[in-house]
Amino acid sequence: MVYKKKSIVIGIETSCDDTAVSVVNRNRNVLSNIIIHQKIHKKYGGVVPELAARLHEKYLVKAVNMAISSAKINKNQIDAVSFTLGPGLIGPLLVGASFAKSFSMGLKIPLIGVNHVQAHILSQFIKKGNLNKSYYPIFPFLCLMISGGHTQIVKVNDFFKMEILGSTLDDSVGDAFDKIARMFGFSYPGGPKLEYFSKNGNSKKFIFSKPLVKGLDFSFSGLKSHVMQFIKKKSKKNPYFVQNNLSDLCASIQRIIAEILLEKVKKAIADTGIFRVSLAGGVSANNEIIRHFLVLEKKNKKWEIFIPKKKYATDNAAMIAITGLLKYEKNIFDPINVCSYSKFQTF
Ligand code: KG4
Ligand code: ZN
Repeated sequence: MVYKKKSIVIGIETSCDDTAVSVVNRNRNVLSNIIIHQKIHKKYGGVVPELAARLHEKYLVKAVNMAISSAKINKNQIDAVSFTLGPGLIGPLLVGASFAKSFSMGLKIPLIGVNHVQAHILSQFIKKGNLNKSYYPIFPFLCLMISGGHTQIVKVNDFFKMEILGSTLDDSVGDAFDKIARMFGFSYPGGPKLEYFSKNGNSKKFIFSKPLVKGLDFSFSGLKSHVMQFIKKKSKKNPYFVQNNLSDLCASIQRIIAEILLEKVKKAIADTGIFRVSLAGGVSANNEIIRHFLVLEKKNKKWEIFIPKKKYATDNAAMIAITGLLKYEKNIFDPINVCSYSKFQTF
């Protein structure tokens, strides 16, 4: 059978502990989006890199087969294979890279390495990928990239022309959520649990100080230490302090984080005169952070806020496949000896 080229791209994501594979088409529709969560890490309180790599090896072929069959395509219809080149855990990345390279050689299709952070930002270009808008953001726009690994404000001039305007000087915001959540006894990832327990809490009960960081940079290590000292002190007097105040503590921490993020974005808007702002990364799944941004959008008629659907905010392979598709359309391919990288380099 002869297949018509339809610009079908498969994306493989193995940068951390989720084995994810997705298939997209030239209309930017997601035909399939498979995620196999590795549950084993819960009992260790964080991701164990070697275990993650071994489990990617175990699950990846299954995830690829599931993605192809639920996309209702044949593997010979795939025009390019994209995969996460970095940043991330090197062992897990190498498993995805080796698979993608073999797949590319076997099917004689282009190989496309993708920067994971750039893919989070470009998840805005997934058809129907947005929670609150039915159209894509127009360039240039600002992106608040908030994940477990990164906290940045990025000016997106075009698909592959991005400038970092500000970054965290220490911990990422996702890391702050996870570490503070751990103090309360929540397993990794702590962000969603902290959000869950803050539901009926009084967010104004406890006041934590905001870091004083110049420009568009962030800092979250001070907040983490402040919370730790505060609960230590209070728990000395009352060993049940955390237990008795859990909802209010979670809500207060969540509110201060949302305010820190919003203040920096306001400054970025004032500095650049760009009123379109997208959110990206796992932390942008947080409803309180989303609410803070949408309240301001309502007040400021010029603002346009773009929020990714939750399944495209946290790690997923659809964002890798979409970035792969955008690169495929521009003939941006990688050689077979392209090397994975663990640390963020540049866009
Ligand atoms: O983007 P992501 O899935 O992986 C990285 O690239 O890092 O982000 C993971 C981070 C974790 O720190 C997790 O706790 C946080 O996103 N996260 C949340 C929520 N969902 C995920 N943080 C706060 N509220 C949430 N609902
Ligand atoms: Zn991510």
